[in-house]
Amino acid sequence: MSPLFRHRVLQFHRWTGFTLGLVMVLIAVTGAGMVFRPQLDPVINRDQFTMAACHASLPLDTLISNARAANPKGGALTYIRLYPDTNAATHIRFSDDKWVNMNPCSGAVLGQDDRYGGLFGTLALLHSFHFIKSGHLIAGTVTLAFAIMLILGGLAVWWSGRPRSGRKFSGRALPQHLHKTTALYTSLILLTSALTGLPQAFEWCRHGIYLLAGSQLPAPISPSAAPAGIRRLSAEAVRQHAHSLMPQARQVQIRFAEKPDDAVDIRLIGTDAPHAQAFSYLELDSYTGKVLRFTPYAKNSPGEKIYLWALSIHYGWVGGLFGQLLLLAGALSVPVLAYTGIGSYLRRKSKQAANKRMLLRISKKTIEAEGICSFELVDPAGKKLPPFSPGSHIDVYLRTGLVRQYSLCNDPRERHRYLIGVLRTQDSRGGSQAMHDDLEEGSILEIGMPKNHFPLVPAAKRSLLIAGGIGVTPILSMAEQLAGRDADFSMHYCSRSLLRTAFVNRIKSATYAQHVTFHFSEGASSQRLNLQTLLADPDATSHLYVCGPAGFMDTVIDTARKNGWGNERLHREYFAAGVSSSSRDAEFDIQLASTGKIYRIAKDKTIVAALSEAGIRIPTMCEQGVCGTCLTRVLNGEPDHRDSFLSEEDRMKNDRLLPCCSRALSTMLVLDL
Ligand code: FES
Repeated sequence: MSPLFRHRVLQFHRWTGFTLGLVMVLIAVTGAGMVFRPQLDPVINRDQFTMAACHASLPLDTLISNARAANPKGGALTYIRLYPDTNAATHIRFSDDKWVNMNPCSGAVLGQDDRYGGLFGTLALLHSFHFIKSGHLIAGTVTLAFAIMLILGGLAVWWSGRPRSGRKFSGRALPQHLHKTTALYTSLILLTSALTGLPQAFEWCRHGIYLLAGSQLPAPISPSAAPAGIRRLSAEAVRQHAHSLMPQARQVQIRFAEKPDDAVDIRLIGTDAPHAQAFSYLELDSYTGKVLRFTPYAKNSPGEKIYLWALSIHYGWVGGLFGQLLLLAGALSVPVLAYTGIGSYLRRKSKQAANKRMLLRISKKTIEAEGICSFELVDPAGKKLPPFSPGSHIDVYLRTGLVRQYSLCNDPRERHRYLIGVLRTQDSRGGSQAMHDDLEEGSILEIGMPKNHFPLVPAAKRSLLIAGGIGVTPILSMAEQLAGRDADFSMHYCSRSLLRTAFVNRIKSATYAQHVTFHFSEGASSQRLNLQTLLADPDATSHLYVCGPAGFMDTVIDTARKNGWGNERLHREYFAAGVSSSSRDAEFDIQLASTGKIYRIAKDKTIVAALSEAGIRIPTMCEQGVCGTCLTRVLNGEPDHRDSFLSEEDRMKNDRLLPCCSRALSTMLVLDL
């Protein structure tokens, strides 16, 4: 499947999932609630369903008149459901849609039920959308559309990106895997359930079944004229007619026609019926009791039998408990699909939001120290900028095509500007030079949304901030935040000399100036940073934050560890990296989880470069293992971490890597791509 076609299928799949998904969740959840109705209803409403058996039932007309007395405003009699067993209630319904449940032995009223009241009545109401006029058509249409589009779309997506066996999924990959697996294994149940429900929603569907089965629809029976002086058949007479034709019926349903001349419609379910909807049909002249049509179940046309089987399957009444459980699993899978599908969509959206770009104007360019400029960025229309937290950085997209990351160094409470500091470096690939030489006040700069891989720990009782050179930028915003909160902190700012120290005046005039100590390596040895003294005796509530050149940070972190600082209290951020290559560099394979395809990574190629040649693009920014943009989940294999982004603990988990620089220690890595 071509990537474009797959993208379109995915779009279509998401669209159908979102537009129909919520309605389908309602239908499925209410359907799941009704699956065990035959077992649960008599338990929950025991007093309305069962009673002590007796020798013989009272005449049906007596039960009807008692029921009418209990529901005098019920209107015309419309329906009776009765069981030959005398320990089961007789249910009588009037045109107000109220059931009156009767004891057939004593004629006592057991209780009254609204047809769409109580737990199961409400579920039925919601399931078939009876709360809206012609709601069953809406439910049917949604079901049909959902069943066909979502399942076919899902299968196409699944086929294009099915996972191979033997793979473990965790973290973010798990919901996607769960979504696909649930969709695959339940699609057949869902499809069956949806299709078998359609004949109830659409008459044309029932006709279609007849057509496909080569059956004729039963011809309607014309109403008979009322013979003079003869009254309509009593309900008891109807019951006796039915009994004489099928003495073994285990359930009898009598539907009284709205028009008095129409035939009485009786449905019987025999004790030998193959399923719960295996009706035998009987129609009686409503005056004479003459049998107008009697079709035992076995004589039903193939079309009718298929229709009745479909009803039974839809209600979960085929296959006993197993059938019910299967249907329940299918119905409950819909909310799981909705949850996992929405989760994946939201993650994609938040990723897109994080990758959004802005065009900002350089309102001020200031030389802060030798080789260091600061750039103040504002919205050209004066709008507020998205908020950021201390330690955040932005991606700066340069005209040269380079993307560079710079920490925001202003007070995080400010919304009218971003401030970044840029050191011109000798070994730069041109990023810092382009910033220094090409950009002036008034220039427009394209930047990404603030991201934070170096946040302050909110629970820290005390913070120790250590900056080396231009690494002061994220440290400054941290100091602003901590000072604003009146938190306990101290900041040590190391640089070669005063001339090369940025933001000195700002720091000296800040409210937190007394928390800051400057250290110059070209100055007197007494004022140089003594890490051993500073980091001795760590207390368990202190957190250390360091940013600066890699060697500087390594020294700080190593000294801290030697003095007993736990890794969880050490935080650092690289602002440039020396991506290492080593004699360990060797060829290895990458397998993509989505397609199962395997790619060979040559000694002298990064994973990103090799996959890019094969047409698989991984988003990158720094390509130095610093920014984290290319972070990718590892599903199998052992990575050889070469980045500066992941912490020691993260690396030990071996579940993610930065493919712009990292390689593999195992012969194969399976990536969640
Ligand atoms: Fe920045 Fe890989 S692109 S870490």
